[in-house]
Amino acid sequence: MEKNLLEIKNLCKYFNIKNSVFKKNRKILKAVDDVSLEIRKGETLGLVGESGCGKTSLGRTIVKLYEPTSGDIVYDGKNLTNLNFQEMKSFRRKIQMIFQDPYASLNPRQTIGDIIKEPMEIHNLYEKENRDKKVLEILELVGLNASHISRYPHEFSGGQRQRVGIARALACDPEFIVCDEPISALDVSIQAQIINTLEELQEKLGLTYLFIAHDLSMVKHISDRVGIMYLGKLVEISESDSVYNTPLHPYTQALLSAIPIPDPDISLKKERIILEGDIPTPINPSAGCRFKTRCPKVSEKCHDKEPQLIEVKKNHKVACHLYNKL
Ligand SMILES: Nc1ncnc2c1ncn2[C@@H]1O[C@H](COP(=O)(O)OP(=O)(O)O)[C@@H](O)[C@H]1O
Ligand SMILES: [Mg+2]
Repeated sequence: MEKNLLEIKNLCKYFNIKNSVFKKNRKILKAVDDVSLEIRKGETLGLVGESGCGKTSLGRTIVKLYEPTSGDIVYDGKNLTNLNFQEMKSFRRKIQMIFQDPYASLNPRQTIGDIIKEPMEIHNLYEKENRDKKVLEILELVGLNASHISRYPHEFSGGQRQRVGIARALACDPEFIVCDEPISALDVSIQAQIINTLEELQEKLGLTYLFIAHDLSMVKHISDRVGIMYLGKLVEISESDSVYNTPLHPYTQALLSAIPIPDPDISLKKERIILEGDIPTPINPSAGCRFKTRCPKVSEKCHDKEPQLIEVKKNHKVACHLYNKL
């Protein structure tokens, strides 16, 4: 088995909500709350959960766009948490991010060539005279070509813009890429093409991905393992097949039942779990399990005690009192 490239240990990212001048009224929003996971070299870990559950916050904390509130991020055996700016620089090059909205994340006044060249300049990569050649190579890798170099982001379709976003991430020769819902804003017909490109790149360049999505349908195709998040917590994680075939957490079961099936015969027979109850906020969460207000299998214990993420089957972890008999 490949070794771990990234290990996240008890990672927390809290935001202070300053809606009051009085200190005692300040609230804490727990966007990422005590998350631990590993990502092996060369694999794709899918991370799925509803909007607002903390996926982007986790991704941004990993690439150090956010400082963690607490916990450790260990990359290739080195703890990034305490590195100074200079030490961090070489890791910033290796760990890149692709954003959900390629339009908002590309500078509209820069040409595609300049957008891709900028990270090379920042990280002082390649000889100056070789950079144009490198830009061209990268464009071709992501399915664009030389005719695109002097154009501007607004001249492109959504799918092509996301290809530019991928090209920019590749410009500094990364090892690990956080893909934050890279296909959510795209037409369904384009989504599969971008997924294929990401898979080809992974193979050619030996990349490792954290692939974030808000539903389970596309993630299956690209992920080796899948993790499920709910309100700042990782509630289940396992190999993709295990999560899809034998989901353990009631939340995962509900997410899976919401995936449309193209075959109407099967689709009619399929039982859909509709989640009821309030969607709580991650601000000052109450005690017990965070899913208790919507869980169809809730019991008394769920109100008092927070379930821990434990391995209940080989390589299959879940945080739910149904399985945790302790
Ligand atoms: N910079 C921020 N300041 C305050 N709250 C934030 C910030 N970023 C995200 N949040 C809050 O953190 C929670 C998780 O958000 P986010 O990580 O964007 O979730 P997701 O990507 O799963 O939709 C949400 O409640 C969101 O409102
Ligand atoms: Mg997000």
